[in-house]
Amino acid sequence: MIVHSETCYTLHTAHTSYQMSVGPDGMLLHTYYGARLPDRAPDLTDGRAAHGDPGCWTDLLPKEWSAPGTADNRTPPCVPEYADGTEAAELVFAGAAVLPGKPALPGLPAFRGGADVQTLSVTLRDVFGLEVELRYSVYEKEDLITRTAVYKNAGSQPLTLHKAASLCMDYAPGSLDLITLNGTWAAERTPERAPLRCGIQSVGSIRGVPGHAHNPAIALCRPDTTETNGDCWGFAFVYSGNFLIEAERADAGQRLVMGIHPYHFHWTLAPGESFAAPEVAMVYAQHGLGEMSRRFHTAIRTRLLAPRWQDMNAPRPVLLNSWEACYFDFDEAKLLELAAAARKADIDLFVLDDGWFKGRNDTSSSLGDWVEDKAKLPDGLPGLCRRLNEMGLELGLWVEPEAVSPNSDLYKAHPDWAFVVPGRRPLEIRQQYTLDFSREEVVDGIWQQLERVLRSCPIKYLKWDMNRSLANVYSAALPAARQGEVYHRYVMGVYELQRRVTETFPGLLLENCAGGGARFDCGMLYYSPQIWCSDNTDARARLLIQYGTSLFYPGCVMGAHFSTVPNHCNGHISTTEARMAAALSGTFGFELDLTTYTPEELEALRPYVAWYRAHGGLLRGGDLYRLAGPDASALGAAWMIAAPDGSEAAVFAVGDALSGSHGTASMNSLPRLPLQGLDPAAVYEDEQGVQYTGAQLMALGLPLPGPRGQTPACIWYLHRV
Ligand code: DGJ
Repeated sequence: MIVHSETCYTLHTAHTSYQMSVGPDGMLLHTYYGARLPDRAPDLTDGRAAHGDPGCWTDLLPKEWSAPGTADNRTPPCVPEYADGTEAAELVFAGAAVLPGKPALPGLPAFRGGADVQTLSVTLRDVFGLEVELRYSVYEKEDLITRTAVYKNAGSQPLTLHKAASLCMDYAPGSLDLITLNGTWAAERTPERAPLRCGIQSVGSIRGVPGHAHNPAIALCRPDTTETNGDCWGFAFVYSGNFLIEAERADAGQRLVMGIHPYHFHWTLAPGESFAAPEVAMVYAQHGLGEMSRRFHTAIRTRLLAPRWQDMNAPRPVLLNSWEACYFDFDEAKLLELAAAARKADIDLFVLDDGWFKGRNDTSSSLGDWVEDKAKLPDGLPGLCRRLNEMGLELGLWVEPEAVSPNSDLYKAHPDWAFVVPGRRPLEIRQQYTLDFSREEVVDGIWQQLERVLRSCPIKYLKWDMNRSLANVYSAALPAARQGEVYHRYVMGVYELQRRVTETFPGLLLENCAGGGARFDCGMLYYSPQIWCSDNTDARARLLIQYGTSLFYPGCVMGAHFSTVPNHCNGHISTTEARMAAALSGTFGFELDLTTYTPEELEALRPYVAWYRAHGGLLRGGDLYRLAGPDASALGAAWMIAAPDGSEAAVFAVGDALSGSHGTASMNSLPRLPLQGLDPAAVYEDEQGVQYTGAQLMALGLPLPGPRGQTPACIWYLHRV
């Protein structure tokens, strides 16, 4: 609900409110983001702001937006340059409108609108022609507000944007912690929490993709905020390219700015032209990080994923991926042997990973030549697909559409399609270049190849990989003055191709991937309902990766596979139960050479597949409660997924969490794990028929068997009787 007077605008969701107000000289002030206010909330503008001398106070006022050159010296959300070289803009309130639904951001992914969504559009104007339209869409039920900014040149001369962020907000005073998700290849999205110090703390990427190092989502919270208590504010960027998130603590006030990274970004707007920045999704929660995460999860599941994948009860295939089983070393006979073993484990879909196309036997060649390698697949993909289908398996396929090998037919035919800075040697990473997806004809060329492959036989799943950062970013198709547009146009090209793939083949399950989890963001989730979390499939490492990921993203989007031991990435050995606990909490699949399994071992995998099928709706659509860990000192974790109506729950405990060191000490000295999200008055039964009341399970906890062996784990299913 949006309630407003002439000067004060309050956005209400079910449990949160957001308010801005027009202050002195038409400055737009940020006045509140927190727990729900009364419908007709008073204007919460700070007295100083309302009555102070604006000239004197502008650097101190909490702003909703700002620009340089106005004596506001905190980090600006936008930096325009007018034709005369000046960079100042005084953006003052010029009007606002409440719109039904949500206007589209052409070519950009965004949380989906609907009849229950309202949008506030606020226009700020500078006398020299820059107009910034701030858009806020309110999702009441989901407690979600999305924001963006559309920049327009309403003047008579061209103007250039050197920074064009999506969000600026001067948040409430008082100490805050900043939570970021950081890492590296095979260790993505490890949460880091630190008090916000004076100055600017930022995370970002200039790699062309968000990258392994930082995720484009952050949270701010009070120093005493825990999983279950306290204020927190979460912000997730709906974008898959360069980004910058700046949290500033200045002498007066604190500011958050989020948007496309200004590195190598400049965008010239001719009179009348506009530029739409990608959106940011915002959530406030009063009851801790767990509540914040659950709000993001629900919003992502019900408002961001493609409608076809929003039904969490609709089955998702249990897949086997060939990568860790064969890498590049396979032929059709070997694949079919692997498939036969997969079938015995009751797996649904066989994903043929890297290496299926012409001459691709290692990373040194062939990217860009999306034609079957007849040496490996004599009857091509249709032949393989037919044989798999006869065995009762569907076919899935790996591609890397943005890449080209220097040693490929595509590169020989179109060397100019790859990024290269004129006069410089193009940089190879993983022996490949990146195609210039800012050019329409390049996107068209790859689309023609992909469409042919996808039409050649019933391919049900596509893994879209991307294995390097961008470099040598220069487009042969744009003049010198417009090279600052290339990074963003590249991302738009990726979105366009993913749009074509998903709209032309609506039944196809798309899974994004970028050298593991280097492109795990809300932009990608608009097109693909799952993303490969990490190349590290070790259970213990996955606890931390998936725990960090779960701060913003739900389990149903986390690609997670059961793999072999010792783990290929880190040599670690963990129990079957621990590896299953990690994989079952994500999209669940397998990635190992099952031909080495005995018939009994294959048979032993079937109950897990059956368990996933039986409880898939709960696992994908339930509410996540992080119960314990993980952290560096205690290598274990416990978490549960409860049905929103409290009717059933799945509980997982791994490693040290089983010793009860994270749970409450119990009255009878057995370690116990206190649960959450259940109905206290209900009676629950586990799979052994043992009954507990919800109150017992939440106050005292589920009795734990205690640790046994290396990386022990337990999985429970509880239902209300
Ligand atoms: C990186 C991915 O993360 C892996 O799963 C695998 O698909 C390889 N690329 C293939 O080259």
